[in-house]
Order: sequence, then C-alpha cells, then structure tokens
Amino acid sequence: MAEPSVIKGGATLAVIAAVCTAMVAFTYRLTGERIAANEQAWLERSLQPALSGLFFDSGVSESKLTVPAPHDLPGSGEAAIYRVYSAEAPVAALFVVSARDGYAGAIRLLVGVDVDGVVTGVHVLAHRETPGLGDRAETSRSDWVRQFDGRSFGDPRIENWKIRRDGGDFDQLTGASVTSRAIVKAVRETLQYFEANAAAVFSAADDDEGTQ
Ligand SMILES: Cc1cc2nc3c(=O)[nH]c(=O)nc-3n(C[C@H](O)[C@H](O)[C@H](O)COP(=O)(O)O)c2cc1C
Repeated sequence: MAEPSVIKGGATLAVIAAVCTAMVAFTYRLTGERIAANEQAWLERSLQPALSGLFFDSGVSESKLTVPAPHDLPGSGEAAIYRVYSAEAPVAALFVVSARDGYAGAIRLLVGVDVDGVVTGVHVLAHRETPGLGDRAETSRSDWVRQFDGRSFGDPRIENWKIRRDGGDFDQLTGASVTSRAIVKAVRETLQYFEANAAAVFSAADDDEGTQ
C-alpha cells in the first residue's frame, strides 16, 4: 500500500491536471468563438465592396452556396456564391472566383451581380501581381475595376468584353495588359455563368441548410 503522502501527492496532481485541462478547454472554446466571430466580420467586410448602392436586409455572408468543380465559373477549384436578399426577395449574388491567367498566377476576385445580371461591383481579394503594375487592380490603388460597375453580359456585346489593346471596350492598366486581360475575362465568364444559371443561383439551398 502506498504511503499516505504519495497518495495525497498523486491526488493533488490529479486535481491540478483536471483544473488545467478544464481551463485549456474553456480558453480554447472562448478563443474559438472569438476567432469565428472575427472571421465572420472579416468576411462581411470583404464582401461589402461588391455591393455598392444596393439595399438588402440579409447578412452578406449568411446565404452561402458552394459550387463544386468542375463548373463554368472562372477558376479550377470550387467557387463560392453569397446571395443577399431584401424582404426575402433576391437582390444580388456575390461570386468568389479565380481569374486563372494573371501575370503571376491566379487572381482571387469578388464579382457582384444583381438579379438583372448587372455588375454591382468587382473587388480583388488576393493576388501576386507585381507591385506598381498589376497590383493597381486593387481598389485601394486605383479605381480601374469601377469600369465594370453597371455593365452586363450584353453590355458590351460579348466580343467587346476585351481590353482596348485587343479591340475591346475596357481600359487596360498601363504596362499591365496581362492582369487586365485576366480580370476582364473572369468578369465576363461570371456574367455568362449568371446568364445561364440565375434561377439556380437563387433557388439552390444554402450550404448549411439541413445541418442546423
Ligand atoms: C518584372 C516584370 C513584372 C511585370 N508584372 C506585370 C504584372 O503584374 N501584370 C501585367 O499585366 N504585366 C506585367 N508585366 C508586363 C508584361 O510582361 C507585359 O509586358 C505587359 O503586361 C504588357 O502590357 P502592355 O501591353 O500594356 O505593355 C511585367 C513585366 C516585368 C518585366
């Protein structure tokens, strides 16, 4: 039979270990919730720029639809679509897509399209384009992407959805035609997808429907 002091020591250690485990679990949960809340807030903020001038009363990131690959949206991986509503009527869809052929690889884009197929805003989310050249596609560096606002699949006609250098209707960033071409093409492809799938975009169930 073990010494009473050994048993007491062991019990004390066990209590300390239990308390520590509980504290770690509690902190983890607390931090986890805070991280999730921060991520949610970040997501809402990063989606807003493509919704300028629109009225909606649903959370921007509340209604998410994931489109598994392969699909006709720009980019090879899965694409995400966030739908916004006003009084439960659809207002716009936000497409998170990838323009494949940027100068330094894929350019992650947010393309907002309203129910009539009109661009509500385009925003560059992530890229590796060259500073001072292709990075000027970022909203914080120029308003180059604002040229897409109000345009649609038929305006201009599909053959004019190109940069001016290639005979199209869209300005290119000086010295950065590659970046410009990639983004014009991705916006056009997103509008083409919307043209063909608008009903499904707004009628499909949310990703997490049925998990709540
Ligand atoms: C170091 C370096 C970085 C470049 N970065 C970019 C870029 O980020 N985006 C881009 O479109 N073109 C970039 N270019 C330029 C392209 O190679 C190409 O010349 C340009 O896109 C053509 O644009 P332009 O038709 O307006 O001359 C870069 C060129 C060099 C030498």
